[in-house]
Amino acid sequence: MTAKSFPWKTAWITGASTGIGRELALDLAAGGVKVAASARSADKLAEVATMQPGITAYPLDVTDPQAVAAVVEKIAQNFGDIDLAILNAGTWHPTEAIDIDGEKAAQSMAVNYLGVVYGIESLLPRMRQRGLGHIAMTGSVAAYRGLPKSCHYGPTKAALNNLAETLAIELKREGISITIINPGFVDTPMTEVNDFPMPFLMTAEDAARQILKKLPRKPFEIAFPWQLVRQLKFAQLLTPASHVRTMRRFLGFNNKPRK
Ligand SMILES: NC(=O)c1ccc[n+]([C@@H]2O[C@H](COP(=O)([O-])OP(=O)(O)OC[C@H]3O[C@@H](n4cnc5c(N)ncnc54)[C@H](OP(=O)(O)O)[C@@H]3O)[C@@H](O)[C@H]2O)c1
Repeated sequence: MTAKSFPWKTAWITGASTGIGRELALDLAAGGVKVAASARSADKLAEVATMQPGITAYPLDVTDPQAVAAVVEKIAQNFGDIDLAILNAGTWHPTEAIDIDGEKAAQSMAVNYLGVVYGIESLLPRMRQRGLGHIAMTGSVAAYRGLPKSCHYGPTKAALNNLAETLAIELKREGISITIINPGFVDTPMTEVNDFPMPFLMTAEDAARQILKKLPRKPFEIAFPWQLVRQLKFAQLLTPASHVRTMRRFLGFNNKPRK
């Protein structure tokens, strides 16, 4: 990958041990950005750090608010101000509605939503003091509408999209930009468990490329691939009741289940 010049000197990425986060870390570092890479797996982060100079591992469980605050403090001490944060750590438990499980829902919310909130809480004081900063968070196109097998995951990403809107309204005057990244299906360890068709599946390298092409312009939303985004944005135009009826009809949920 050829080096690009990015508008950030330092970036912090969570969920950087595999998949989209890992590719973002590699691409940003290749473009000269000093990257702090976080995830729980210290061994995988160490491996990512050997693949490209400029990446430093900061192992972390994003569900632990004290640990998040400590890592943000450590990065600031070692790197200086964090210009860009990509809060990308996530977890996915594809589950049918009949198997809905409070513990899995709580764990999904803890990683996908609260993990992002803790990151923002720790980043804001310094960014506000500087009057400068860019916070991106990885949502999903699954946030746009209720979808099958998404009873644990979809609500976490819908919450994140709503949070991003709120923050973007209020934080611009503080000099802080907010971007919500809503990918479609990307071929990563997360989607390896999927036993259903994944239309317009992309590689993690392509996903990172699409994100980093647009992110310097600080858009509110980056969503891809366009083919899937177009279909789901159209579904957003339907009333909730028509969306539910349409999904039942086209996905065969009007037929009696086999017991
Ligand atoms: N792949 C897709 O089709 C797709 C589509 C839409 C949105 N997304 C979103 O994209 C983001 C990246 O997913 P991916 O596809 O690249 O999947 P992935 O390869 O499974 O990456 C998930 C990352 O999150 C980290 N993580 C999970 N739980 C964590 C925790 N408690 N604390 C810290 N890090 C944690 C994982 O590392 P450790 O296990 O080492 O902690 C890993 O680095 C997620 O937010 C996901 O929801 C993915």
